[in-house]
Amino acid sequence: MIQTEDMEFAPRMISPENTNEDNDIETTLRPQAFHEYIGQDKVKENLAIYIKAAKLRGEPLDHVLLYGPPGLGKTTLSAIIAHELGVNLRVTTGPAIEKPGDLVSLLTSLSDNDVLFIDEIHRLSRAVEEILYPALEDRVIDIIIGKGPSARSIRMDLKPFTLIGATTRAGQLSAPLRDRFGVIQRLELYSKEQLTDIVRRSAMILGIPCTLDGAAEVAGRARGTPRIANRLLKRVRDFADVMGNGEINQKIASIALTRLEIDELGLDSLDRRMLEMIIKGYGGGPVGLETLASAIGEESVTIEDVCEPYLMQLGFLGRTPRGRCATKLAYEHLGFRFQDDGQLTL
Ligand code: ADE
Repeated sequence: MIQTEDMEFAPRMISPENTNEDNDIETTLRPQAFHEYIGQDKVKENLAIYIKAAKLRGEPLDHVLLYGPPGLGKTTLSAIIAHELGVNLRVTTGPAIEKPGDLVSLLTSLSDNDVLFIDEIHRLSRAVEEILYPALEDRVIDIIIGKGPSARSIRMDLKPFTLIGATTRAGQLSAPLRDRFGVIQRLELYSKEQLTDIVRRSAMILGIPCTLDGAAEVAGRARGTPRIANRLLKRVRDFADVMGNGEINQKIASIALTRLEIDELGLDSLDRRMLEMIIKGYGGGPVGLETLASAIGEESVTIEDVCEPYLMQLGFLGRTPRGRCATKLAYEHLGFRFQDDGQLTL
């Protein structure tokens, strides 16, 4: 059983952030077991061993922290972990747990060995985190009853459980919280081949005819992210239905994605605006993150979490202590000539 709270909406076509439409499609497409989950091989292999060992000993799985860019399947993985453990999964997010009492009721409602998944765990408030420490370490919670000098603290035992925390920003997690996770795994952006397999699998489940080159075209523009690949697949299907015969092939995928202003490498207008600002406005960099963000009118967290991981994987962006730099590859992709002296020519 999966319960979900607090879903966000993000309008950008290739934003990896979760939207309500994604939730519907992700529920349909979500792999149920490790053998159906494509990619992240090291993470899968390690988790499979820890799960087997926990089951052999009849113990809960140790607490798990999953981190990495958004849209890579952290929620999906935790659903698989709960499924493989044969226990219930409760899904929530850091910002949805507003008060310590919210966390207390979540923790006390769990059954033996259940999995509690907290997305965006770096956004938990300090007061809520304080409840979590003894819960994770000693399986107890301390509840304060009353106020002022007559206040008393009572200690309550919890059932054995596993917390799976997910975050895009492991660096923002407080050290005491990070230290309480026995298993820490980083998820990586997917290769084009892995995303092609994911697109083909999704097309098959959704009953969309899709050629190998059509799937590869969608995959190549999905910036390493299954959530984006699945979203693009749905949009390309609209073009295939209206402009073609319903089949997704390389040609129709390319036409559709170009119309959506996503280029052959998956860059959208925000990525291009950002790189052009570094190149034209700051001589290729270095330029500080905050300066860059206000120059293009975007939030710095969006640039950091959404644009930068992919631009860095492409080798288009360098991060130095003095700020961000556009690389020769970025100049060439945007049609500028790279000159070491920072002079710009088209
Ligand atoms: N759908 C989304 N992510 C997936 C993955 N890693 N494997 C298979 N299908 C997926």
